[in-house]
Amino acid sequence: MSKKIICLEDFEEKARRKLPKMIFTYVDSYAEDGQSSRRNIESFKELYFVPRCLNDTSQRSSRTHLFGRSYDAPFGIAPMGIAALTAYQGDLILAKSAMAMNIPMILSGSSLIPMEVITDVAPGTWFQMYIPETSEKLEALIERVGKANFEVLVITVDFPVSGNRENETRTGFSTPFKPGARLIWDGITHPRWLLFTWLKTLLTSGIPHFENNYAVRGAPIISKSVFRDFSGRTTFSWNNLSEVRKLWKGPLVVKGLLNDEDARKACEHGADGIIISNHGGRQLDGSISPMDALPRIRQAVSNNVKLMLDGGIRRGSDILKALASGTDFVFIGRPFNYAAAVAGAQGVTQAIQILLAEIDRNLALLGIDSIDELSHSFLYKPGSQIERQLARR
Ligand SMILES: Cc1cc2nc3c(=O)[nH]c(=O)nc-3n(C[C@H](O)[C@H](O)[C@H](O)COP(=O)(O)O)c2cc1C
Repeated sequence: MSKKIICLEDFEEKARRKLPKMIFTYVDSYAEDGQSSRRNIESFKELYFVPRCLNDTSQRSSRTHLFGRSYDAPFGIAPMGIAALTAYQGDLILAKSAMAMNIPMILSGSSLIPMEVITDVAPGTWFQMYIPETSEKLEALIERVGKANFEVLVITVDFPVSGNRENETRTGFSTPFKPGARLIWDGITHPRWLLFTWLKTLLTSGIPHFENNYAVRGAPIISKSVFRDFSGRTTFSWNNLSEVRKLWKGPLVVKGLLNDEDARKACEHGADGIIISNHGGRQLDGSISPMDALPRIRQAVSNNVKLMLDGGIRRGSDILKALASGTDFVFIGRPFNYAAAVAGAQGVTQAIQILLAEIDRNLALLGIDSIDELSHSFLYKPGSQIERQLARR
């Protein structure tokens, strides 16, 4: 545990120094001008708490129930592709640390470690997939996911094409990955990453492959066919979700919705949960932030459907604001990626502990014992409707 790290933001600065610019930028990046990425964070900062006092808060707990499991916290780790490029065996580290701390981690379909290896050491991990192009490939992939004993399946639907991430283009990052002169220089000037992530990976398991996009092993990350494997997603419709629902018997979560009508449709097509998300501002720049989209979606879907959210959460207080606004659970991406890059499993564990401590302290300061007590009455938004009504009196 590093004593110099006391909040999630501290991991980002350390990761910036440790990682080659190209790799750091891949995690940090956002689409175009970063309007959505910035708004994700701002939409938490413009909400304030209205705490209660003189309540006994000595029995505080942040325990949460989701899809038949009990978790120690109301947050989990969002799916992030190629996490094994930022930290040695990144996907495994994230999954193992999440399991040890009893929170869920969602393995990305674009991960570089076979899904079976992950569930072997970290049972209870969730799986995220992009729908493959044909019914045959879909059926085979879902069969593989089931055999690997995943319990919860997340379908990401906000990726018909890749977002326009100009900052990645500027640093030379691309998919397929091109380890040219630029990366070699970037690597030489960041020797800890070069030796303990990249070379260690090459020596122990060779060039990483996309392992989990299909039922069979995908292309190596440097292969031109990677591009083909990530295209062809523009023809999908709600029928594809129905197909998934028929094949997958466990809890099904749809990730990447921002529109209340879509949220309703997802429920009609059999979703058990929704993750409101704009992909961390990495897809359509200018898209609404998940916190701004939440009120309409909350109204549109029944309480039986688990409503989750990700994007811009950096503090325990952000998590509590999301829960008070009507979500059941939240996910966090980049900070956990940086924590894995900076200090491996220890870093991820420390990041989880920081958030748990922030939640626990803030529950006491809010005057409540449990996250179930959170509601809109704990929040104040300047200029909101209730303020306008009171001002008119
Ligand atoms: C490096 C990186 C890779 C990502 N890869 C995926 C992915 O493979 N599948 C997916 O559904 N979302 C992916 N996302 C989006 C995250 O799951 C999540 O929606 C987003 O990171 C949340 O925002 P935050 O980073 O501000 O917490 C990725 C995000 C990052 C930062």
